[in-house]
Amino acid sequence: MDQARWTAVDHYINGLVVPSDPALDATLESAAAAQLPPINVTPAHGKFLHLMARAQGARRILEIGTLAGYSTIWLARALPTDGRLITLEQKPSHAEIARANFERAGIADQIEVRVGAALDTLPTLAERGEGPFDFTFIDADRPNLTEYFGWAVTLSRVGSLSVVDNVVRKGAVLDPASDDPNVIGVRRFVDRLAVDDRVSATMVQTVSAKGYDGFALALVIAK
Ligand code: SAH
Ligand code: DHB
Ligand code: MG
Repeated sequence: MDQARWTAVDHYINGLVVPSDPALDATLESAAAAQLPPINVTPAHGKFLHLMARAQGARRILEIGTLAGYSTIWLARALPTDGRLITLEQKPSHAEIARANFERAGIADQIEVRVGAALDTLPTLAERGEGPFDFTFIDADRPNLTEYFGWAVTLSRVGSLSVVDNVVRKGAVLDPASDDPNVIGVRRFVDRLAVDDRVSATMVQTVSAKGYDGFALALVIAK
């Protein structure tokens, strides 16, 4: 592993094709000031999500795991003016910080933060008929990943895309004997993904300023 080089290349990428702006900078600064863990997507990954959602023509986006709203801002900027994003966050303090960041970014009217454990708020979304979502991004706790993905597909339409973050975890996903609840959660998810004929999926390994990890991408092909 060569973390210094991966970080340097991320800076190179940011300097050329993923320029920041005051709203994104302020979001990261607010997270650091509140001592939130620095586990937001990288700028390059944020822009990747943005481009995927934009290419998808997404009008409705669902995110699970808001933190300070950094990935949320990238995703919401892919929406047309009448598009909407719902982001689910367990911690009220994170939700409050994120809402301030959405105000500052000038996109608060398109984003709703729902506070609560996602396993509680997801069924409510379905009951209220708030889908289908064109694009979902799953980036919360891993032990419940299989359930989150199940809800994401339920709340999708044929043609929707879902991105699931952190599915490689420095390669720890290979270890069937792991006692790490995150690894166990990811492995349970991947086992299900492999046999889920409602989706066509892949997993992509990544290196970045955040180390060695990866994401899953699933296209809903049948419901
Ligand atoms: N997507 C964000 C980072 C999310 S970090 C970004 O890239 O900028 C993960 C977030 O999920 C944290 O804010 C954490 O509080 C939240 N979370 C953890 N468990 C959760 C749960 N059960 N329900 C909803 N949110 C949860
Ligand atoms: C962690 C969580 C994330 O969503 C991430 O992208 C990186 C790390 C974590 O909990 O360690
Ligand atoms: Mg993540």
